[in-house]
Amino acid sequence: MLTPQAHTLAVLASGEGGNFESLALAAQRGELGGRIAALVTDNPEARAIERARRLGIECLCPPTGHFRTRIEDERPWLEALRARGVEVLLLAGFMRRLHHTLLGAFPGRILNIHPSLLPAFPGLDAIARAWEHGVRVTGCTVHLVDADLDAGPIVAQAVVEVAEGDSLERLTARMHDAEHRLYPQAVRRYLTEPWRTEGRRLVFGAGVEAPHG
Ligand code: GAR
Repeated sequence: MLTPQAHTLAVLASGEGGNFESLALAAQRGELGGRIAALVTDNPEARAIERARRLGIECLCPPTGHFRTRIEDERPWLEALRARGVEVLLLAGFMRRLHHTLLGAFPGRILNIHPSLLPAFPGLDAIARAWEHGVRVTGCTVHLVDADLDAGPIVAQAVVEVAEGDSLERLTARMHDAEHRLYPQAVRRYLTEPWRTEGRRLVFGAGVEAPHG
C-alpha cells in the first residue's frame, strides 16, 4: 500500500491503448484507487491519443531521441511527470525499456502488463509465441517493473485457456479481454491493500508493514 488517499497516476502507452482505456474507465468509475493525470506516449501516431482526447485526459509526447527501444534522455519525461504530481506509472503496451532516471524516481511504483504467464514468453510477440509453442493455457501478468525485462515481482495473473480449434486471432481477442479485466483490478489492489516484497515475491495482507507509505 502506498498512502491512503487517491493516487495520481500516469499511463505510458505506445499503440492501440486498449489497456489505457480500461484503466481510465475504471478510474472514472472510482474503481482504480487513483486518478489518471496523463497519458504519456513515445508515438505521436498512437491510437491511444484519440482515446485520451475522448476521455478528457491530458496527453503528453515528450522527446524520445534517436534510439528505438529506449528513451535517449529520460529527464524531460521525469520533469513532465513530476510537474503533474504523478506518483505511480502504469505501463500499458509501452514498447521502450525504462532506465535509471525513471526507475530510480519511481522505486516500486511502476507497474506493467504483459500478455503471458511470466516468466514464460517475456519480450515481444508473447501471444503469438505462446500460440506457436502449442501451449494449452496462457494468460496475462501484472508486475512491478525493475531493470530486467518483464521480470519484476508479480502483482496478479489471469489464466486464458487455449481451446481446441482456436485461432491466434480468437486467442488474442480473449487475451485482450482478460488484460482489460485484470489490469484495473491489480492496480486497485496494489494501491489500496498493504503489500511488501520478500525477495521476488510480492506479498499482500493485513498486518503487513507498508514500506512505501
Ligand atoms: C497488450 O497486449 C500488452 O500486454 C502488450 O501490448 C499490448 C498493448 O495493447 N504489452 C507488451 O507486450 C509489453 N511487453 P494496448 O495498446 O491495446 O493496451
